[in-house]
Amino acid sequence: REKRKSIKEFPKQINNRVIDAFQSFAPFDRAPVWMMRQAGRYLPEYREIKAEMDFFATCQNPFIAAEITLQPTKQFDIDAAIIFSDILVLPKMMGMEITIEEKKGPVIANPLQTPADIQKLHPPNPEHLEHVYDALFLTRLALQGKCNLIGFCGAPWTVFAYMVEGGSSKLFSKVKKWLYLYTEGSQQVLELLAKESAKYLINQVKQGGAQVVQIFDSWAGQIPAIDYIEFIIPSLRILFEDFKKECPDTPLIMFPKDQNDKKVIVEFLKLTLNGKPLIDGFQLDSNISDETLVKIIEANRTIQGNLEPGVLYGTNDIIKKRISQMIEKLQTTRRYIINLAHGLTPDHQVEKVRLFVQESQRQSKLYKAK
Ligand code: CP3
Repeated sequence: REKRKSIKEFPKQINNRVIDAFQSFAPFDRAPVWMMRQAGRYLPEYREIKAEMDFFATCQNPFIAAEITLQPTKQFDIDAAIIFSDILVLPKMMGMEITIEEKKGPVIANPLQTPADIQKLHPPNPEHLEHVYDALFLTRLALQGKCNLIGFCGAPWTVFAYMVEGGSSKLFSKVKKWLYLYTEGSQQVLELLAKESAKYLINQVKQGGAQVVQIFDSWAGQIPAIDYIEFIIPSLRILFEDFKKECPDTPLIMFPKDQNDKKVIVEFLKLTLNGKPLIDGFQLDSNISDETLVKIIEANRTIQGNLEPGVLYGTNDIIKKRISQMIEKLQTTRRYIINLAHGLTPDHQVEKVRLFVQESQRQSKLYKAK
């Protein structure tokens, strides 16, 4: 850590394709490729490490977290590494007692039940997040400029949903009750999360060397556009603004999963600071409408996505065909990053994932040459 704070320069960037996808005049040979949840249980080398360690213990050991982050970069010729961590690391440091349980996923022992529980939350002790910045730093050194490094956090709404539901949910009835009944309390928590998430991302960039950041709003689609605009975007705006004030040149990708209403995207596109967009790119899920897509491309924002990950269970023929259709549709802009529509899961096969990466790169080059 001492050394981390003294080193001022990182290895020279050899492959900068992901960052180039945010700059209109950058060189372009093909679109960059990476995958959400590219480090995880479908990789035997990940399972080997995980067999010995608890999930959060792996996140909290910078050497192990860096090693796991690098695993997919050794398997595949990908253009980005995303730091191995979790969106629940931040609320864990704010007083939530969270464990990840086999088959169940995240479980929270002390969920927020009524606004009186808000008092139990506290800003994280900055020292308790240093391991994330250490892991990023080690990863950035080890990558030797071979690909870009991405940092991330959960969006306030999604993190809040976990904090209230106490884990994964089907109905999201508890967090909806908060939103519509304890509206003020909800706003208070969302704002606190927005401010702390911005600090967390700023440190990921300034201390750790993250080159791009992505905000995962996995449960954005659980409420209608009208509520997302009224209750959720104001807290996101705080997050984006705080971040961009400190890191104006670091690309920010927003992932409002299943919230594809054109009205929401239009609200996002309006957000600016000193005339510059607050959101540089959008991760797309597989339901994006053509109409919304056009809005994003016309606003000169980067798009990332969006192959349904289930396609990778299929035959090589269907995988190739769907990649081709995706590229025809999305590579109409050079501000394009190839990715899936959501994360890889433990039942994916390494060879099919490899086919996705190789075939995407091959077809992206061919399409560009057309
Ligand atoms: O490679 C990467 O993408 C980086 C790592 C990463 C993880 N979680 C590792 C992880 C990222 C970016 C996340 C984000 C995350 N975490 C999200 C947003 C993205 C999405 O999927 O919608 C969400 C909702 C979470 C919350 C979370 N953490 C869940 C639902 C689970 C259980 C999932 C499961 O597969 O069991 C986790 C645990 C988790 N986070 C695992 C991994 C690799 C599995 C833990 C294990 O290995 O046992």
